[in-house]
Amino acid sequence: MDVIGISGSLRKESTNTKALNIALRFAREAGAAVRAVDLGQMAIPIYSEDIPAPPPDLLILQSVLLETDVILIASPEYNHSIPGGLKNVLDWLSVMDNPFDGKVTAIFGVSNGPFGTVRMQPQLRQVLANLGSIVLPKPQICIRNGNEAFTPSEELTDKNTENHLKTLVLKSLKLAEALKMPGIQI
Ligand SMILES: Cc1cc2nc3c(=O)[nH]c(=O)nc-3n(C[C@H](O)[C@H](O)[C@H](O)COP(=O)(O)O)c2cc1C
Repeated sequence: MDVIGISGSLRKESTNTKALNIALRFAREAGAAVRAVDLGQMAIPIYSEDIPAPPPDLLILQSVLLETDVILIASPEYNHSIPGGLKNVLDWLSVMDNPFDGKVTAIFGVSNGPFGTVRMQPQLRQVLANLGSIVLPKPQICIRNGNEAFTPSEELTDKNTENHLKTLVLKSLKLAEALKMPGIQI
């Protein structure tokens, strides 16, 4: 199994990237080949139909995502919604050979408030559904008070949340494996 992780936060000390790294570690421990893509390192303009061709970085991202079995997205909530950078990438990919179509995706999020991205996640789920992705319904992981949610060694302080995250990752791998079985076509 191949797993790609995307963080919806571009900042270096991102709590979502920390949560993503934990999730990728769970996938690696389960035998998957994992990789994180850093949207902050990519030159991707705001989508416009007037831009004649997708930028090269987006083509690289698209090919990496087309090849993978599972996509993990950890994202913060900006103004109760999907951060613009992440939404822009999804908009771009939706008008290309869309790598989310028929692909298993698991989403989760960390915010530095009491609601833990609970308002953003249904919106992200809706956008991914439109892209044809199979988004794991549960467990829903909304990590609140992000600034206090990690130990200095970047582990989650709450072991229940950590277990839920592991369950989400393992379920996504199992579902992707099941979709590879002969006779399954979606
Ligand atoms: C533009 C902007 C909007 C934000 N809006 C929300 C919000 O609606 N809800 C929320 O819980 N936190 C909001 N936050 C705070 C984020 O939860 C906090 O910055 C969080 O740490 C971002 O995740 P990161 O650590 O992965 O960068 C906002 C932050 C920014 C920069």
